[in-house]
Amino acid sequence: MGQDAFMEPFSGKVGSVQCKIFLLLLGVCSGLKVTVPSHTVHGIRGQALYLPVHYGFHTPASDIQIIWLFERPHTMPKYLLGSVNRSVVPDLEYQHKFTMMPPNASLLINPLQFTDEGNYIVKVNIQGNGTLSASQKIQVTVDDLITKPVVQIHPSSGAVEYVGNVTLTCQVAAGTRLAYHWLKNGKPVRTSATYSFSLQNNTFHIAPVTKEDIGNYSCLVENPVSEMESDIVTPTIYYGPYGLQVNSDKGLKVGEVFTVDLGEAILFDCSADSYPPNTYSWIGMTDNTTYFIKHGPRLEVASEKVAQKTTDYVCCAYNNITGRQDETHFTVIITSMGLERFAQKEKSLSPLASITGISLFLIISMCLLFLWKKYQPYKVIKQKLESRPETEYKKAQTFSGHEDALDDFGIYEFVAFPDASGVPRMPSRSVRGSEGVSGQDLHSTIYEVIQHIPAQQLDHPE
Ligand SMILES: *[C@@H]1O[C@H](CO)[C@@H](O)[C@H](O)[C@H]1NC(C)=O
Ligand SMILES: *[C@@H]1O[C@H](CO)[C@@H](O)[C@H](O)[C@H]1NC(C)=O
Ligand SMILES: *[C@@H]1O[C@H](CO)[C@@H](O)[C@H](O)[C@H]1NC(C)=O
Ligand SMILES: *[C@@H]1O[C@H](CO)[C@@H](O)[C@H](O)[C@H]1NC(C)=O
Ligand SMILES: *[C@@H]1O[C@H](CO)[C@@H](O)[C@H](O)[C@H]1NC(C)=O
Ligand SMILES: *[C@@H]1O[C@H](CO)[C@@H](O)[C@H](O)[C@H]1NC(C)=O
Ligand SMILES: *[C@@H]1O[C@H](CO)[C@@H](O)[C@H](O)[C@H]1NC(C)=O
Ligand SMILES: *[C@@H]1O[C@H](CO)[C@@H](O)[C@H](O)[C@H]1NC(C)=O
Repeated sequence: MGQDAFMEPFSGKVGSVQCKIFLLLLGVCSGLKVTVPSHTVHGIRGQALYLPVHYGFHTPASDIQIIWLFERPHTMPKYLLGSVNRSVVPDLEYQHKFTMMPPNASLLINPLQFTDEGNYIVKVNIQGNGTLSASQKIQVTVDDLITKPVVQIHPSSGAVEYVGNVTLTCQVAAGTRLAYHWLKNGKPVRTSATYSFSLQNNTFHIAPVTKEDIGNYSCLVENPVSEMESDIVTPTIYYGPYGLQVNSDKGLKVGEVFTVDLGEAILFDCSADSYPPNTYSWIGMTDNTTYFIKHGPRLEVASEKVAQKTTDYVCCAYNNITGRQDETHFTVIITSMGLERFAQKEKSLSPLASITGISLFLIISMCLLFLWKKYQPYKVIKQKLESRPETEYKKAQTFSGHEDALDDFGIYEFVAFPDASGVPRMPSRSVRGSEGVSGQDLHSTIYEVIQHIPAQQLDHPE
């Protein structure tokens, strides 16, 4: 029962700490605490609203008094009801509306009306060894439940991409304090270059529409007591044609050229993305004459009927709502049976041949690159040898090396130099440039030659 209220004394420690804080702040120690779970309570009109209140104290009490007041902005606070111990004294004006069961301080408002919106103040007084007093304030809002919103699309007939605009209007039959949100494919819609909203957000304007605006839209309406989402609407947006292409059931397609066996019928399928579906038309071109063939996305070419070996075709896709069209040209080559066999042979051969060719080319390229890389240093050395006066070169031959740190410079690059395959070629190449220097000498004195590269670099500034 209500006795619970009395069974909630605060522990002495907490109470004394709170007491000190209160003493410091207010100069009064109540030892009584009144709490409410929420300082704002949203109520639904016509239903009962319960305002829960808890209180506790740690002193012996003789009388417990509870008072409820109601205040609205710019009006005098009104007394609703009060109690001492277990006897309730209501304001006679509201005696059927407000209920309290002391010592339980919670208040029941039934039924709730818009006029009940405001602040409710509860004051608890404890009479014991002196009087303790505490109060709390609860803000109450009153709203109607929202009914399911309905979205209307304008224009209902649809809009042409880049030309037309679409306006979605969200309508709700009942509900107060409505907040409108728009969802596209379940995700919130944000203001953008083409999206705008009315002040209340209940209308959503797309200007101009594009193909990307096609989607599932819904309106979500919420208020403090409810939330409702409309059915999904899909505005009609006319677009296209986009991505026109022609495919065939058989035949070989190479770029815009189809190769067909003589005597074989081939079916071409023309397709493009558009709304509403395109109307397709086929046009043939032989020599300089252009002729209309048929309407529809499919064209069958029976090769026997084709007089020419090569015919150009055009597929036109036209969207009669957007007024836009696109066309694609392609060529059909009819090959005779004999030729075809030969061509097939070639066809079957040619991939192998090309693969072999490419492989060979790659292998040769790799070899050449390898050789080039391998002999590049020789070339450098050769050039350096050639550019060097013979006397200096000879001097170099007698140079003993390792006298100076610079001598080690670049040596490691050329460690692999005197190998069996590379050496024999060397003399023949360098004979002319390094006159009088024998191949053998060169072979045995590579180290000295290289040693001089840094020295020569040092010579340059002179
Ligand atoms: C007060 O009464 C309500 C029911 O009317 C009950 O749910 C609530 O727990 C009570 N509160 C206390 C503190 O006893
Ligand atoms: C309230 O109850 C206490 C003890 O339960 C009693 O002493 C006191 O007289 C009562 N007050 C009234 C106004 O009935
Ligand atoms: C009542 O209060 C006085 C002074 O505030 C104190 O001396 C006394 O012990 C208290 N009595 C009880 C029963 O708490
Ligand atoms: C679409 O909206 C734009 C800007 O809001 C306006 O200029 C244009 O006339 C509208 N087009 C149609 C077809 O209503
Ligand atoms: C829109 O809704 C339909 C059916 O509810 C669904 O098939 C379609 O995939 C949805 N489109 C998107 C883009 O979510
Ligand atoms: C309207 O919607 C936009 C985008 O969802 C949002 O940024 C804006 O705060 C909303 N305005 C109101 C008044 O709800
Ligand atoms: C095609 O037209 C060009 C000029 O447009 C002309 O020179 C040529 O002779 C014509 N060819 C045939 C086969 O009619
Ligand atoms: C547009 O083409 C469709 C066939 O794709 C046809 O049903 C419709 O009547 C045409 N509309 C107009 C306005 O020509």
